[in-house]
Amino acid sequence: MAVALLVAAGRGERLGSDGPKAFVICAGRPMLEWSIEALRAVAEIERIVVALPPGVTAPPGTVGVPGGEQRSQSVQAALRHAAAQDDDVVLVHDAARPLVTPAIVRDCLDTLASEDCDAAIAAAPVADTIKESDGEEVVRTLDRTRLWAVQTPQVFHRAALEQAFAQGAAAVAAATDDASLIEAAGGTVRLVPAPRENFKVTTPEDLRLADLLLRARG
Ligand code: C5P
Repeated sequence: MAVALLVAAGRGERLGSDGPKAFVICAGRPMLEWSIEALRAVAEIERIVVALPPGVTAPPGTVGVPGGEQRSQSVQAALRHAAAQDDDVVLVHDAARPLVTPAIVRDCLDTLASEDCDAAIAAAPVADTIKESDGEEVVRTLDRTRLWAVQTPQVFHRAALEQAFAQGAAAVAAATDDASLIEAAGGTVRLVPAPRENFKVTTPEDLRLADLLLRARG
């Protein structure tokens, strides 16, 4: 069975909201509730642990833990809490991705179960051409056919994730996604194709778009 770690402790400064981003109203509900609903619809997920900002209580049916300064430290705090029980699989999801669906979650869980890998992560092929710059000039154009924009959910065999987080505080603090810690530890990460619609809400424009798309789902 699986435990889901929902990270919701970010301040969301780029969104310019009054409160923490995960609790901003999106299509009529606090943003994190859309993710909780999708996670609850998946039978393998037994528990949801939410990394929270200060002064906020956990939504009903979830367990709250105080988040950390960086995202990866919020994941680590939730993972430590989850260690009290013996789930085989750990799923990590950003509360800032309210457009996640049960189908995306199941695809990640199925890939982890059926492939020989340590992690399975949702990702969408990159649509734009990506160039690398030295700050002033273009250094190179990357081969777009090999590039993926990484999302969450990311699912892990529990032992592999715990080992990855044991690489030390500096490595953990620097990680912008959890799968990169697995890669650094020499583990295998599989990509799970997911729709671009499962984007992360970062700016006010993203929030408007997420609101429209969620309302259109009906
Ligand atoms: O800041 P960013 O948009 O990358 O955050 C992605 C997710 O990580 C969000 O759901 C946010 O609430 C969460 N986060 C966290 N703790 C932090 C920073 C971000 O739980 N210190």
